[in-house]
Amino acid sequence: MSEPVVLGIESTCDETAAAIVRGRELLSNVVASSMEEHARYGGVIPEIASRAHAEAFVPCVSKALADAGMELSDVDAIAVSAGPGLAGCLAVGVSGAKALAWAANKPIYGINHVIGHIAVTQLQFGPFPPDTLALIVSGGHTSLLHVEDVARHVDVVGTTLDDAAGECFDKVARLLGFPYPGGPHIDRHAQNGDPHAIKVPQGLTQGQAGARHPYDFSFSGVKTAVARWVEGRQAAGLDVPVDDVCASLADSVATVLARKAMRGCEQYGSKTLIVGGGFSANSQLRAKLLEYGERHGVEVRIPQIKLCTDNGAMVAMLGVNLVEAGVSPSAPDFAIDSAMPMTKISM
Ligand code: KG4
Ligand code: ZN
Repeated sequence: MSEPVVLGIESTCDETAAAIVRGRELLSNVVASSMEEHARYGGVIPEIASRAHAEAFVPCVSKALADAGMELSDVDAIAVSAGPGLAGCLAVGVSGAKALAWAANKPIYGINHVIGHIAVTQLQFGPFPPDTLALIVSGGHTSLLHVEDVARHVDVVGTTLDDAAGECFDKVARLLGFPYPGGPHIDRHAQNGDPHAIKVPQGLTQGQAGARHPYDFSFSGVKTAVARWVEGRQAAGLDVPVDDVCASLADSVATVLARKAMRGCEQYGSKTLIVGGGFSANSQLRAKLLEYGERHGVEVRIPQIKLCTDNGAMVAMLGVNLVEAGVSPSAPDFAIDSAMPMTKISM
């Protein structure tokens, strides 16, 4: 089928989203977020998020169809995030998508949300060249993947041994008193700070550990080092230079990610690095990756911000890839998988 039309539905965490993609063209993209309802708890409350999905599901899908000037009968397939994510949240999106597929007699694909973050770059940059490497940086994942065929085969090259980069930022942000999610606040403050003000470790880059884990990441040491430093200042009655703390943290994390990604590209002979996930909205990381990419002769493809954070377009785009590749749709009784492994692309 050429230029398949796919409705993509997303509900893994605190965004309910629906979008329509035709081929590589984004026809509509609707996102409703329950983020503000979680802010006062300092993190996403699954029960509140699930309830918000139940409320937003039909309005989001209706608007995505209306914005594209379509009815459900016009789409060729429905794709929905089946994992990884919060079980209750996934259940709302998957149940809703199954109901639509059944009522309209459409094929349905339960897809991997993380692979969606990679797939979405095609809307901006076109198809993947061979031997593409992908850096996934989201709230829950920090991984380097080798994309052989986005519809059928993805390998894990490296992954975080403890915290994800986004998680590390969110934890330091809490310590500094920023509301959830703290990542964007650190980004903003870092823009006014000195990235070399505080010595922050760069996990798994040196010595034996670095040699043993050339493509793996560790961010819990960074988080602890920054926390100790801040607590030391507070205990001594000194004020905390927030901008400098943020800039030093952001520089350390961005440098490790960029260095390891480039090393992976060298190893796999890859001239293209795809970047995806909510944390790829981070301006320090974007700048560092583009700088390193230029130096190493690697084209770095980072999507525009609205496609970095969770959305339906990423789900629809991966759905298009699956239809184009002739992958069988998911069975009507497919389950959600809150711990879906990155090597599994669809259910
Ligand atoms: O991919 P995502 O939207 O949700 C997951 O699937 O996890 O990623 C959310 C993460 C959060 O940790 C958030 O703090 C972080 O992305 N984030 C940022 C920025 N924007 C979002 N971190 C640093 N700088 C940003 N500008
Ligand atoms: Zn995500």
